[in-house]
Amino acid sequence: MKAFHLEPKELHLASDGPFGHWDTAQLQRGLKVYKEVCAACHGLGQVAFYDFKALGYDEDQVKAIASSWPIQTATINPDTGEAATRAPIISDKLPQPYLNEVAARAANNNAYPPDLSLITKAREGHAPYLYSLLTGYRNPPANLPEELRPSGPLHYNPYFANLNIAMPPPLTAEGQVTYDDGTRATVDQMAKDVTAFLVWTAEPKLATRHAYGWAILGFLLVLTTLAYMSYRSIWADKK
Ligand code: HEM
Repeated sequence: MKAFHLEPKELHLASDGPFGHWDTAQLQRGLKVYKEVCAACHGLGQVAFYDFKALGYDEDQVKAIASSWPIQTATINPDTGEAATRAPIISDKLPQPYLNEVAARAANNNAYPPDLSLITKAREGHAPYLYSLLTGYRNPPANLPEELRPSGPLHYNPYFANLNIAMPPPLTAEGQVTYDDGTRATVDQMAKDVTAFLVWTAEPKLATRHAYGWAILGFLLVLTTLAYMSYRSIWADKK
């Protein structure tokens, strides 16, 4: 299996490295991809609507985003047999697509779509792995042994650890989402944007942490210079 498994492709995001910062336009596009594509099967249980203020939305815009996401309650609607819903408030966490794991597996050929809040930290390969996974679906190579070929509802993807994944290719066509900022929604672009968004959900304080880190380094530099200058001045007249 090792011979067919591929290492993640290169991916460069604005949040990379010690000077990393958020590209809020990209995060907003990523939220759109998550909402219109991934949210059908995956939850984001660690993210509350008001967290979207960090993506550059004001309170009214956050309320508007939340309003299109009804929250399932534990009560069953007697007329439909479905879970009853209520209007969201912005301190709600994003709703889960299924009531529980049994319902999630029942809808996905017994596979379980994981919560994506921390996925870019949870998987080896991190953001580049996610981007590669989303853009890595293809036909199995001709020399792939029979026992490694996808069967039933599985799909071949050489970036997935065991080559065959239960998730159908989620991003399949250009224009699958329409970006508000006019960016061309190619499959590659949507994959990058949703990956950048899921890097943010996994570590929303990353940019603040970098800013603190640099401020502390600056403070330590000044402190070290002062300490050295006092040392020189104290010992200046001693042999
Ligand atoms: C698994 C991301 C859309 C169904 C996963 C995994 C990730 C992911 C990162 C885990 C892979 C791993 O274990 O390493 C995404 C993203 C999506 C998306 C970013 C949107 C762009 C969907 C949709 C469905 C779906 C729309 C349902 C039709 C599943 C299932 C699994 C899964 C069933 C479990 C796969 C397995 O264990 O074989 N997804 N997904 N996903 N996803 Fe998605």
